[in-house]
Amino acid sequence: MNNLKKLVGIEAAKFVKDGMVVGLGTGSTAAFFVAELGRRVAEENLQIVGVTTSSVTNAQARELGIPLKDIDEVDAIDLTIDGADEVDLDLNGIKGGGAALLMEKIVATYSKDYIWIADESKLVEHLGAFPLPVEVVSFGCGQLFRLFDKLGFRPTFRLDETGARLITDMGNHIIDLHLEKIEDPARLIKLLDETVGVVEHGLFKDMAKTVIIGSENNGVKIIT
Ligand code: A5P
Repeated sequence: MNNLKKLVGIEAAKFVKDGMVVGLGTGSTAAFFVAELGRRVAEENLQIVGVTTSSVTNAQARELGIPLKDIDEVDAIDLTIDGADEVDLDLNGIKGGGAALLMEKIVATYSKDYIWIADESKLVEHLGAFPLPVEVVSFGCGQLFRLFDKLGFRPTFRLDETGARLITDMGNHIIDLHLEKIEDPARLIKLLDETVGVVEHGLFKDMAKTVIIGSENNGVKIIT
């Protein structure tokens, strides 16, 4: 699988041109893209500015010597490249397996172009087999958990390696919803958007314009 992640990471880096402000995604696939971008900066003198979507990606990009700016220091982000946990045929997806969905969605929202990179295992007919991450403020999150439970969403709190409730880069918690199949993404988005205490959710609808898929048999496939 790692070879496919690397393949699409390297392919995605070809979309980056001199002078661009580039959103740098989070996760194991995006890490290959960031690594290749770092190589291009070092070896090809590629002139870019990166905007990162997590503390982990920020540390990787710094290590590689990619020039970085805060999202509020740039006028616009030309292109963001990120991974995804699930992608359906309409190019809607679930993100947040790495708990970075809030920063990822903000960076994607302010990007002129937005590309996902993934191995073929992420392509699905219906979203929902991957638990949907919902970022919530800590105050009242137990009430929110019970509400999700009553709605039949089968919630679980995301835990860190010590077994405590995970705290995101933005200081919130994550509740994962085990939905199995999301029949109506738009309806679920409306419900989550209207629920007090929800900061953001990992349903990304109509955001990615292009998905670069790596497969064992067909190599790289670009879906638009
Ligand atoms: C991070 O919060 C996520 O949205 C990742 O982009 C997503 O989980 C994909 O990660 P992998 O590339 O590690 O599968």
